[in-house]
Amino acid sequence: MRVLSGIQPSGSLHLGNYFGMMSKMIAYQEESELFCFIANYHAQTSVSDGKALARGTIEAAANFLALGMDPEKSTFWVQSDLPEVQELTWVLSNFTPMGLLERCHSYKDKISKGIAANHGLFAYPVLMTADILLFQSEKVPVGKDQKQHVEVARDIAIKFNNEYGEIFTLPEPEIDDDVATVPGLDGQKMSKSYGNTIDLFLEEKALRKQIMRVVTDSTPVEEPKNPDTCNVFQIYRLFLDKTQQEELRNRYLAGGTGYGEVKQELFETVRDYFAPQTEYRKELLANPDGIRDVLAKGAEKARWAASKTLRKVRKKTGLAY
Ligand code: ADP
Ligand code: TRP
Repeated sequence: MRVLSGIQPSGSLHLGNYFGMMSKMIAYQEESELFCFIANYHAQTSVSDGKALARGTIEAAANFLALGMDPEKSTFWVQSDLPEVQELTWVLSNFTPMGLLERCHSYKDKISKGIAANHGLFAYPVLMTADILLFQSEKVPVGKDQKQHVEVARDIAIKFNNEYGEIFTLPEPEIDDDVATVPGLDGQKMSKSYGNTIDLFLEEKALRKQIMRVVTDSTPVEEPKNPDTCNVFQIYRLFLDKTQQEELRNRYLAGGTGYGEVKQELFETVRDYFAPQTEYRKELLANPDGIRDVLAKGAEKARWAASKTLRKVRKKTGLAY
């Protein structure tokens, strides 16, 4: 099974990114052929500071490597190291009805938030389609917000295959319902753009400060509490197995446990869970050239896979003459 996903190198990493996408990707390398890349072209829709993008790319690579991405077991690269994807984007643009892009929630949401509409933002799903189809991906693990983009990729692949034969594998999104949307501090989707995140790799003090900001109601300590409507519980449960979840649930229902106490436990859990990775990440970032080497090797592997698809596309469409 070929599995592919990408992550933008914009900003720091939060629990939504980790549980929604990264942890799944890292697990996949044991059981499937994993393709994972840093989507720096996509990040250009929101980052114009070149230094920040370059730095963010190295950091995103360090994040993945620290969390367990093994470049021997997977293909791990930076999107712009394979500009071939831009050629496929152009070819696929000609099989992309305007209406398909106009219906994309992500685009509409961004516009409604006042972000200026430009062609990059609008064509973003076509570039994402090229990422997916170039590698003949079967499964694409993403958070709920990206599901529609994978469906767009599937629609475009069908249109192209109808014209030229079975060139592209039809991809399917994979969404784990348990973590489909990791809630943020305020119970809305955890997202960089909402400023409601709990970040990975923070210093203790900063991490504790974020967790203490989780919004709770004003039920007094001694009274029973509802775990299903509690933001602390909804985040905490991501770190617990079924039995531990049940225990915590019972403590909520019994009363006598205050939100401050559970927040403190959550803080210690998050800190301990990511402690080894935080250390390893520091070591990696102390040697950015080492990271660049790993990425260059990854790009070579990715190019090999991409060239097979691109050769067929060029032949069928007449670009190869
Ligand atoms: P953000 O919303 O913070 O900008 P990104 O759009 O960069 O996050 O998301 C990167 C990956 O993490 C995507 O696959 C996305 O679906 C997933 N993801 C982001 N936030 C969440 C969340 N709160 N719950 C589940 N998955 C998420
Ligand atoms: N658009 C995705 C995001 O913001 C990142 C991404 C780019 C991606 N290309 C992809 C994800 C291809 C899956 C497959 O999260």
